[in-house]
Amino acid sequence: MSVFRVKSVDEIMAESGEKGHKLSRVLGAFDVTMVGIGAIIGAGIFAMVGEAAVGASSGYPAGPALIISFLLTAVACGFTALCYAELAAMVPISGSAYTYAYATMGELIAWIIGWDLIIEYAIGNVAVAISWSGYFNDLLNSAFGINIPLWLRLDYRTFVQKGFDLATAPHLGSIPLIFNLPAVLIVLALTGLLIVGIKKSTRFNDILVMIKLAVLALFVGVGFYYFKAENWVPFAPGGWKGIQVGAATIFFAYIGFDAVSTVAEETRDPRRDMPIGIIGSLIVCTLIYILVTVALTGMMPFMELKNKIAEPLIAGLDYNHAARWIIVLVSLGSVIAHTAVLLVFQMGQPRIFFSMSRDGLLPQYFARVHEKFKTPHVTTIWTGVFVAVLSALCNIDEMANLCNIGTLFAFVLVCMGVIVLRVKDPDRHRPFRAPGGYATPVLGILFCLFLMHGLDKVTWIRFFAWLAIGLVIYYMYGYKHSRVRTGDLLLRQAGGAK
Ligand code: ALA
Repeated sequence: MSVFRVKSVDEIMAESGEKGHKLSRVLGAFDVTMVGIGAIIGAGIFAMVGEAAVGASSGYPAGPALIISFLLTAVACGFTALCYAELAAMVPISGSAYTYAYATMGELIAWIIGWDLIIEYAIGNVAVAISWSGYFNDLLNSAFGINIPLWLRLDYRTFVQKGFDLATAPHLGSIPLIFNLPAVLIVLALTGLLIVGIKKSTRFNDILVMIKLAVLALFVGVGFYYFKAENWVPFAPGGWKGIQVGAATIFFAYIGFDAVSTVAEETRDPRRDMPIGIIGSLIVCTLIYILVTVALTGMMPFMELKNKIAEPLIAGLDYNHAARWIIVLVSLGSVIAHTAVLLVFQMGQPRIFFSMSRDGLLPQYFARVHEKFKTPHVTTIWTGVFVAVLSALCNIDEMANLCNIGTLFAFVLVCMGVIVLRVKDPDRHRPFRAPGGYATPVLGILFCLFLMHGLDKVTWIRFFAWLAIGLVIYYMYGYKHSRVRTGDLLLRQAGGAK
């Protein structure tokens, strides 16, 4: 059946060199590692550790044993990162997991994964943009005493859930006007930056990453200064279950190392730099996360986090009456960290759309590269509008959970892709080979399924609904226009790329 037709690695590589669809190779190992760190450290460590430590909604606190949760999730992500590195070095194309699936499991699975990656990148960014907006307001408040009105920085449902008075919002006829304006503005601003150029964007990212690392180092220093051993008793108040639920919650904090693979086509030496960027950024972030968690859980009894659950690091500083300038700096660092995540994900999503469009699964219109800036501007603008609209109107927890399930599913398929390609094409040169034989991808799959299992039913339903919509679109458009199916790609190869 043609839906299972694969596009060989050679076909994929040939197509990426076609005129008018070519991106420029400007990034080195340092840049791509910074892209990874930029994507990883954000809402997860600055916001979600509070919920994981206290277990307010699950009833299972991880407590100081959150350190073990972080290690556990790092191991799960480590297996997947090795698989990503093997594929990204072998098939250095901007489509990431989507491209790997096309080369291994066929067009239908490739479409499913491409569609699924929208959940990881775009929906994940909706969650980060909403969290950004909250911190931005806190920063304005702590530094200048300014507060953005609630109707202008929350979505309708959160506004109602928190019991705010609808009469305080302006109305258009009978409809209350409640939306998240800061989230929209930051997404649109970054979209503009990404159109202008990837090199400029990664330079901006480098600066953001340096600042957030410096701020986290400051926090760790302060936390160690206030560290008291008795805060670690009891160490694991929720037992093994608390550790497990904590691991599923903070999975969000690790998402992003895979985003490195979306800039493979713009990397000068992807065979060497992809493995460095993917694995290097994961290792650096794991170390930082462990240090931050040790500091946070040692500087206060973890249950005190309950008072400021969405801003756990600020809660730790408040508890110890840290100087005001430290609190302002950490708030600022949080806004900056969120900005870097937004930037990298806004950069990754259009490149996946771009690859899908280049393959004919989406209209060719999306595969255009800007003549002057050499960026996929059409997909960048569409992604910006989509994320901005959803961030204006959606609820953060739902978006974060949907992002988690979508990402874990993508990870499972990437690990499967490694197995399939090793069986089908064992002799192809692998600039990087994940160590441990088949054990690595198999363990990657098992760990991801284990974490997916921990997500709630509503998230699963939303996930399947999203995939179903994707299948309808595939049968209505991609199935008919696929360049592999129409033979367009093969003709071009025979006659030379025009
Ligand atoms: N890992 C990213 C974050 O924590 C998505 O914001």
